[in-house]
Amino acid sequence: MDSNCLSQSIVIFFLLSIWSTLHVHCQSNIFTVSQSRAKTNSKEDFLVAWKKACETDGGTISVPQGNYQLSDVEFLGPCIGKTNFVLDGTLIAPEVPTPNIDYWIMFRNVDSLSMSGTGTIDGNGASYWKIKKAPFITSLKLEHVNNVNIRDIHSINSKKFHFNINNCKGVTITNIHAIAPADSPNTDGIHLGKSENIRVSGANIATGDDCISIGDGVTYMNITGVNCGPGHGISIGSLGRYQEEKEVRSIRVTNCNFKNTQNGLRIKTFGPSPPGLVSDITFEGNVVDNVDNPIIIDQHYCPHTTCEGDSSVSIKRVKFIDIRGSSNAAIGVKIDCSKSQPCEDIELKGVSLTFNGQPTTALCSSADVKFLGNNQIPSSCS
Ligand SMILES: *[C@@H]1O[C@H](CO)[C@@H](O)[C@H](O)[C@H]1NC(C)=O
Repeated sequence: MDSNCLSQSIVIFFLLSIWSTLHVHCQSNIFTVSQSRAKTNSKEDFLVAWKKACETDGGTISVPQGNYQLSDVEFLGPCIGKTNFVLDGTLIAPEVPTPNIDYWIMFRNVDSLSMSGTGTIDGNGASYWKIKKAPFITSLKLEHVNNVNIRDIHSINSKKFHFNINNCKGVTITNIHAIAPADSPNTDGIHLGKSENIRVSGANIATGDDCISIGDGVTYMNITGVNCGPGHGISIGSLGRYQEEKEVRSIRVTNCNFKNTQNGLRIKTFGPSPPGLVSDITFEGNVVDNVDNPIIIDQHYCPHTTCEGDSSVSIKRVKFIDIRGSSNAAIGVKIDCSKSQPCEDIELKGVSLTFNGQPTTALCSSADVKFLGNNQIPSSCS
């Protein structure tokens, strides 16, 4: 190689390395959803952006501000690495959902997902709520999604559930909003089943059903700083409706506020029912304001048919600590357990619940209830 050729090679090598550096820098991992079909149905555009984000390590699907009509859509993994969904726009569901599909937006089989943004998912449920026995449908469903962070997203007017978390591990939900009218049926804010290691904090939930409902197989869950109301409160259950339900264990509900809700802190199991187990539940530092049933364990739950009988789901080690505020009824504490499966180890400590400024009472049956410490209202079972 003569010296001229060598210097040319060096120049070419130099240019090549600049080019490849630039190339890597320009290659974006943000995939923006096109707005071209936003007025009709953006489904294909969402799927295109999802696929690219999912096939890129650290890929982001980005939804800019604006309104997007969107029919039922499934974002399916597994993905290459972590995937981000940034929602700044408003997604609008069709008024009439696709038959036999129980979700509007679904994430499935994804490991490591983050969903964030100031955007809204609008379930467009108003006409659906009027249909009698309308099939179940969730606005945002997660199925077999692990290590997921959901932050700030607003969900409004879901047809039934707002969020449904199923078979997931490691879920953190922060500052979400779930809003629907007080009389909209089954619009639970967050429903969970068969999932573990869950954190919900700082949510604002105002709906026509439970703010948060915890189904069978949920373990290790902390709920904190949730504002609930209107709605039916935070519920463990209903449980015992089906055979072979998995246990619910190690749930903590702390520093939540309930305003004008049907219930505050509730555990409900069907009576009669197959066997099951609820244990190690702590409700601590929660405030109620004009709540119909501030503290309620109901083992004779049976809303749909005329059934009569005792639940065989056993309930153990439940603590109500520092629960304060106003009840909307004379009974502030209702512990109604089953004769065949009495509740064990129910503790109340620092509870103070009044009705029209007067002390409330506690109604207990088939339950081992301990009132610990002084000056509780109510101070014992009547
Ligand atoms: C729930 O809170 C308890 C007590 O602060 C903590 O030990 C536990 O790790 C938390 N669980 C989750 C899933 O965050």
